[in-house]
Amino acid sequence: MALVHATLLFPNLLFFFFSQVSYATDTITHSQPLSDGSTLVSKDGTFELGFFTPGSSTNRYVGIWFKNIQTRTIVWVANRNNPTKDKSSTLSLTEEGNLVLLNINRSLVWSTNTTSKEPVSSLVVQLLDSGNLVIRDGSNDKNEESFLWESFDHPCDTLLQGMKLGWNLKTGLNRFLTAWKNWDDPSSGDFTSGVKLGTNPELAIWKGSVEYYRSGPWNGIFSSGVFGFSPNPLFEYKYVQNEDEVYVRYTLKNSSVVSIIVLNQTLYLRQRITWIPHTRTWSVYQSLPQDSCDVYNVCGAYGSCMINGSPVCQCLEGFKPKSVQNWNAMDWTQGCVHKEPWSCGVKNKDGFRRFVGMKMPDTTHSWINTSMTLEDCKAKCLNICSCTAYANLDTSGGGSGCSIWFGDLVDLRVSESGQDLYVRMATSDTIIYNDAKHKNSKKVVLMVAIIVSLVVMMLMGFSYIYMTKTKKEEEKDEGEQENLELPFFDLATIINATNNFSIVNKLGEGGFGPVYKGTMLDGQVIAVKRLSRSSGQGLKEFKNEVILCAKLQHRNLVKVLGCCIEGEEKMLLYEYMPNKSLDSFIFDSVQSKLLDWPMRFNILCAIARGLMYLHQDSRLRIIHRDLKASNILLDNNMNPKISDFGLAKMCGGDQVEGNTNRIVGTYGYMAPEYAIDGLFSTKSDVFSFGVLLLEIISGKKNRTITNEGHIDNLIGHAWRMWKEGTPEQLIAPSLVDSCKISEVIRCIQVGLLCLQHHPDDRPNMTSVIVMLSSETILSQPKVPSFLIKNISIEGEQSCDRQESCSINEVTVSLLNAR
Ligand SMILES: *[C@@H]1O[C@H](CO)[C@@H](O)[C@H](O)[C@H]1NC(C)=O
Ligand SMILES: *[C@@H]1O[C@H](CO)[C@@H](O)[C@H](O)[C@H]1NC(C)=O
Ligand SMILES: *[C@@H]1O[C@H](CO)[C@@H](O)[C@H](O)[C@H]1NC(C)=O
Ligand SMILES: *[C@@H]1O[C@H](CO)[C@@H](O)[C@H](O)[C@H]1NC(C)=O
Ligand SMILES: *[C@@H]1O[C@H](CO)[C@@H](O)[C@H](O)[C@H]1NC(C)=O
Repeated sequence: MALVHATLLFPNLLFFFFSQVSYATDTITHSQPLSDGSTLVSKDGTFELGFFTPGSSTNRYVGIWFKNIQTRTIVWVANRNNPTKDKSSTLSLTEEGNLVLLNINRSLVWSTNTTSKEPVSSLVVQLLDSGNLVIRDGSNDKNEESFLWESFDHPCDTLLQGMKLGWNLKTGLNRFLTAWKNWDDPSSGDFTSGVKLGTNPELAIWKGSVEYYRSGPWNGIFSSGVFGFSPNPLFEYKYVQNEDEVYVRYTLKNSSVVSIIVLNQTLYLRQRITWIPHTRTWSVYQSLPQDSCDVYNVCGAYGSCMINGSPVCQCLEGFKPKSVQNWNAMDWTQGCVHKEPWSCGVKNKDGFRRFVGMKMPDTTHSWINTSMTLEDCKAKCLNICSCTAYANLDTSGGGSGCSIWFGDLVDLRVSESGQDLYVRMATSDTIIYNDAKHKNSKKVVLMVAIIVSLVVMMLMGFSYIYMTKTKKEEEKDEGEQENLELPFFDLATIINATNNFSIVNKLGEGGFGPVYKGTMLDGQVIAVKRLSRSSGQGLKEFKNEVILCAKLQHRNLVKVLGCCIEGEEKMLLYEYMPNKSLDSFIFDSVQSKLLDWPMRFNILCAIARGLMYLHQDSRLRIIHRDLKASNILLDNNMNPKISDFGLAKMCGGDQVEGNTNRIVGTYGYMAPEYAIDGLFSTKSDVFSFGVLLLEIISGKKNRTITNEGHIDNLIGHAWRMWKEGTPEQLIAPSLVDSCKISEVIRCIQVGLLCLQHHPDDRPNMTSVIVMLSSETILSQPKVPSFLIKNISIEGEQSCDRQESCSINEVTVSLLNAR
């Protein structure tokens, strides 16, 4: 689920493929209803209202869409929760001035709820150029703003330019977005988004009645929790708060750009999966929540979330975990407490510590004053014993106003657009921070002295290195071997070691090229991965990537020993793993007997630890994107090591969370949002881990299997067994004797949780490790993602960097199979 800000450029350049057989009109009146097959079009031709059938549904709905945008984008649905089944319904205006939808036998399907004093003959229903469907007095053309009813007051999942999101305090009308249930079903889903009322209102997203995300209160610019809303040429937000209304709305600055906000229920809602090359598509400008730190209150009270931190949650300075044990196990829910309680009432004892760049805490228990200065604000907070923090209310124009908080500070994070938050401390805690200028002047002098001498030393150090380097560069004509940590080998050495890439030395063929065994002159045995040519990346970026990957060292990651770049050739040198890969054990009827349950359980936990290291290492945050049994190598003691990490990026996939046009991965292991939308995140790795886990337990590959009349894959099979209460039937026969049934069942449950359809429902690797190694009660998995069952797997081809596996093909095969 995400609140998505999608933008379409140059809509007027779009081709127009709809066959225009329907009859279009510009008003609905009492004497002129609209029947299925006809449409109502806005004056400027931007919007169209009519009957439609979403996706593979058979229901008919009345909705509004962009007339000129080829990818049908529904922005409003009238009868979202009351579909009609027949294609002969009509939309008409009743005597009372209500717009009603009647089905074939004239029974009421849906209706507006207004009471009009106007004579019905003068009323018209019109679709305005803004996309607002209104009932108004047709005889009064001037008075555009007074409507009997308007669709803008009843939003669905889309916020158009000019729509208000928020409250009319006089009438109690609350306009909020509600996501579609799924692509085929516009009825109200679980997620809603709107303005949370309170002393200091803010934008929020709820899942059911549970708060899921909050933006932080309005701070004059946008809000301290949302990045990227600084003034820009595309849109402008306006926030209004007065006695009558509290709302936010946006306007677009350039009328040739179409940009809307959509609350999506699932990650692959609608148009995304029917993307066709050569035509324009919606591009996502911004999504909320932005990252895992945006999950409501992840770190507990006084815990601050730092997306690049490891772990992401840290207690604020001056606070300590409430339960050290839980905190260290990465269960942050209990949050933090003051190291030392403040002594309210004793004059001049308490102080404040300033935290820079913070998203403001939950405003449920807060108080504001728009005219107070920051000094008054501090004094006010000091005078109230339960006051825990204060801050400026408005940060635009240097800061003004006052917000103060009572009780625990909840849902804190470090944010790019954050502001200063002053948190109350006991005196002893803050003495240095409060009055640092006077009391520490001596210290400052000392530090300056130290810094100066350090700088001098560094200068000397630099010139030394610089001089030696220049010498070296003179010796080596290319001068690019400057990195001492990662040896670069020349091609001749590698050719020699691998016997000129002899077929005898070939260990296998991975996603990015063949792997050879090599023996160096000193006897060291290595594995050489010869990367397929024509990678999209430049030489320099490639080298940087290799160096970064070589720095990743973990006992469950294969060690990168060096690389070789010459001309078109790019090679990576790894430590050699004599026991080959995990797939040669678990899927082989003979070899699989060598791995009993305790060993497999160890392997599972070790892979999880390696993956967590990749995901959490603060410098890199590597997403593997091709985790599978053949990428897990085993050392002499059967310890697993993950290989091929970082290759997705080195070979041209862009390794940031988000969206890629080039899918790197293996059918059967790919998370649905990655296979379909190309969206990847650490959670798509978690999905692959789930598949791997089931494979390790069952000894079966996740490919289409026919089982007692069901066409299924391993995930579907596991889910069926789980539902039927017989998960133990999944266990490979060779394991039955060595395993502890309860332990395996726990693992299966963890696996199913990793395979949840929605990435947010999957645990992260940290939680997976905790779940595998403790006795805590696990949540019940929902239906996992079955998507893969629709793809027939032929030889488990890895999608290489070639165009062999574009998004379209994946999508097409999915649609065909439905
Ligand atoms: C009216 O039509 C609906 C289907 O559109 C049908 O279920 C219902 O039985 C019909 N009612 C009458 C009175 O014919
Ligand atoms: C129509 O509005 C009235 C009062 O304004 C309310 O009591 C009634 O429940 C509404 N009906 C529907 C179907 O929303
Ligand atoms: C509006 O956007 C179009 C397309 O991006 C651009 O060509 C045009 O210059 C923009 N106009 C203004 C006034 O910014
Ligand atoms: C959300 O929905 C919009 C419009 O329906 C779509 O274009 C977009 O791709 C969806 N976003 C995600 C992240 O699925
Ligand atoms: C806000 O503070 C100012 C100055 O201290 C004061 O005059 C005013 O009454 C306060 N307003 C509210 C609503 O408390």
